[in-house]
Amino acid sequence: MTACWVVKLYRMKCFSYFKDKSRSKRQRSAPELKEQEKSQPYSGLDRITKSSCSSSSPRGIPELYEEKAHNLRVFSFAELRNATNGFSRLYKIGEGGFGCVYKASIRPVDGKGDPILVAIKRLNKDGLQGHKQWVAEVQFLGVVEHPNLVKLIGYCAVDGERGIQRLLVYEYMPNKSLEYHLFHRAFDPLPWKTRLEIALGAAEGLAYLHEELEIQVIYRDFKASNVLLDENFRPKLSDFGLAREGPVAGRTHVSTAVMGTYGYAAPDYIETGHLTTKSDVWSFGVVLYEILTGRRSLERNRPKSEQKLLEWIKQFPPDSKRFSQIMDFRLRGQYSISAAREIGKLADNCLSKSAKDRPTMSQVVERLKVIIEASDEAKPAGERDQVSENDSVEAEEKPNQSGPTELWKRRMAHLAKLGEHVESASRRRFMILQKANSASS
Ligand SMILES: Nc1ncnc2c1ncn2[C@@H]1O[C@H](COP(=O)(O)OP(=O)(O)OP(=O)(O)O)[C@@H](O)[C@H]1O
Ligand SMILES: [Mg+2]
Repeated sequence: MTACWVVKLYRMKCFSYFKDKSRSKRQRSAPELKEQEKSQPYSGLDRITKSSCSSSSPRGIPELYEEKAHNLRVFSFAELRNATNGFSRLYKIGEGGFGCVYKASIRPVDGKGDPILVAIKRLNKDGLQGHKQWVAEVQFLGVVEHPNLVKLIGYCAVDGERGIQRLLVYEYMPNKSLEYHLFHRAFDPLPWKTRLEIALGAAEGLAYLHEELEIQVIYRDFKASNVLLDENFRPKLSDFGLAREGPVAGRTHVSTAVMGTYGYAAPDYIETGHLTTKSDVWSFGVVLYEILTGRRSLERNRPKSEQKLLEWIKQFPPDSKRFSQIMDFRLRGQYSISAAREIGKLADNCLSKSAKDRPTMSQVVERLKVIIEASDEAKPAGERDQVSENDSVEAEEKPNQSGPTELWKRRMAHLAKLGEHVESASRRRFMILQKANSASS
């Protein structure tokens, strides 16, 4: 679980805000929008829109939200408390910077038919930041609609004597997140083809946000843990708490307090606070490398030179002979090396130092489609490209006609076993360290 970080916060404002709000003891029928309208440039005027030549007055998120708000269900706190058996630990399926997430089932909207499986996220912290994230999540997810974005079913907002309650109710995603499947050894490794399809679906979700809506939406928190997977491992982006509307017409960026997740945020954004869609493109490049390598963007328990993924992979450029050394050993060589190189090159483009040199997300989508198609063609049914530790560009140029040999298979299985051993040893070390730390604290 990666923690969200905030460089600048308006703490004073947040306390006074909640003090005021907590005075009113009532169940809200709609999320509080006004505060966000005041604090963010959501005027709706001069906004860059998909049809920027359109003469109709472009609207902002609050206006679009007002129009669609009726699609969201408003839950009572009691209903969600009952559904989770009093927010019991037995119902808990995850926890992030916002709060705990519970699996539960709720009654259908008309009370008829089978109960619906949902994920309930409960805000666990006070302050304007948490509330702003909750409002942003309701507003953005209330407006957007795409197969690669998680569906928000409804929310609950109560200001009672015992404090404020802010909850979100989403469609339930049974296969957890991309993070779990890439980095947690308890799960079977994701096959190559699934990884590519997940990358494509996530890219389509981002392209929709950047380019296909009436307004431009910058997601700002793209990372493996925010890519949830449905029953068919189709990806859906979740967590719109940090999302922002794109710049108004005539402006190149939005100036913001710098927020995001270590290891994923674009360096130009961190330096300047200037947010553009290209900040999301950078984060997408980071996740592409995580997909290739099975390593997190930051791993403190590795040797110093390997802790920062983007630093480490520099020694293995996609065109070099060494490139295959970065590939996730859990793939057991079952991937197309030429497709992997193309993914590496695409990731490098996304990670261009200068934001304007990064591709748009729709260009990323197009390139991914071509790579997937070529990867499929290069791999007739039942056959796999083979990659050995001696993989080289030269070797790749001579097409392999015989398919995987027994020797190669044995060698890969052996390597994978060794890798697993190293992994579990380092995990044990990590746990011991944790134990030692908690004992001494
Ligand atoms: N709609 C959902 N369906 C199923 N599981 C979910 C859903 N939403 C979240 N989860 C689970 O809860 C976990 C925690 O999610 P959450 O977004 O709160 O934190 P995070 O993404 O891990 O960290 P961060 O707070 O930095 O975003 C997810 O990794 C996922 O396993
Ligand atoms: Mg998340």
